Amino acid sequence: MKFTPFDLEYTQSVWEQKVEFNLTESGVHPITLQELIGEDEGLLERLLQLEINYPHVNGIPPLRENIAALYDGAGTENVLVTVGAAEANHIIIQTLLEDGDELATLTPTYKQVWGIAANSNHLVRPFRLDPDQAWALDVEDLHRQVNAKTKIIALVNPNNPTGHILTEEEMDVIVAAADSVGAWILSDEVYRGAERTQEAEAPSFFGRYDKVLAVGSLSKAYGLPGLRVGWVVGPPDTIEDLWRRHEYTAITAGMISNHLAAHALSESVRPRLRARARDYIKAGYLVLKSWMDSQQGLFSHTPPQASAVTFIRYGLDVSATELMEKLCREASVFVGAGDSFGMDKHIRIAFGQEKEVLEEAFSRIERTLDSLR
Ligand SMILES: Cc1ncc(COP(=O)(O)O)c(C=O)c1O
Repeated sequence: MKFTPFDLEYTQSVWEQKVEFNLTESGVHPITLQELIGEDEGLLERLLQLEINYPHVNGIPPLRENIAALYDGAGTENVLVTVGAAEANHIIIQTLLEDGDELATLTPTYKQVWGIAANSNHLVRPFRLDPDQAWALDVEDLHRQVNAKTKIIALVNPNNPTGHILTEEEMDVIVAAADSVGAWILSDEVYRGAERTQEAEAPSFFGRYDKVLAVGSLSKAYGLPGLRVGWVVGPPDTIEDLWRRHEYTAITAGMISNHLAAHALSESVRPRLRARARDYIKAGYLVLKSWMDSQQGLFSHTPPQASAVTFIRYGLDVSATELMEKLCREASVFVGAGDSFGMDKHIRIAFGQEKEVLEEAFSRIERTLDSLR
């Protein structure tokens, strides 16, 4: 079986440390340890005294309590803490898919789950968000791709790379499709909490159907990717099965990370981090929008409802990967190539950064694009 690398993460490994402007980070600008700890001197003292042992393998109890509080009807027995959403997605695929099982996935998407399933010899059937209908779910396509062999329906909601939030009706259609064949729903919800156009958090799939595994993380909406803390919320017996896989892959997330994550998700700190992320997202999007508007119709896009990224169609006769590489080489600006998300002729630009950084990056992109127009 030929191994296919994870295209997006691979190109990030190649370019992100080489360029001056990295516009591929889909979370908001990371927070410093000092900002995270804030005025909480008690926490600082506790961290200094902390023995850097293995913590609870499934996550320390206060962290699991804080995560459970984010999902209606969840308790700590529904939660497994993982090394990022990346590990969560990985062990879900390992645990659920058996020989001959198929996976249906929403596209465009972050292609981790897709790649892991394909690399383990499972047929992956994409169903789409429609670019010509403001990224609405193509319901007929969903029904074409789901069949008796479908073991998992995978989706990212709010979506990466489009920022689309599924409507309640779209969620119901997906649940009904899963229920009709007894499939699981793997709902990667790492952008939940990073809404731009609404105050309310995007709803979780957890609680809408018994076979849901909802994945979350501190990497995106909380500006804490370097903590490497993610989680799965699901039925307790399946959480136990995932835990058995977690013992093989990572054993546990780090001790310091567990404590900082519990702090970040505590009632007193979480609202501050969410507000910070939303400020970056709202302000950054306006900078991007005004720059795109000045580009004489070169770009078209549907404004993202959540996340710090948007998926932009461009009118140039060059493939997305070629364009991405040209921008890295000539402008020292790194953007996501649409092919990495399953759709050419698009680029994904992340805008969760300071205005001055974005403006300089966009003016460099503009100079390179001038040679292609
Ligand atoms: C949809 C999605 N899931 C998972 C991940 C990985 O997140 P983490 O840093 O929590 O491992 C990413 C990172 O870009 C992502 O976009």
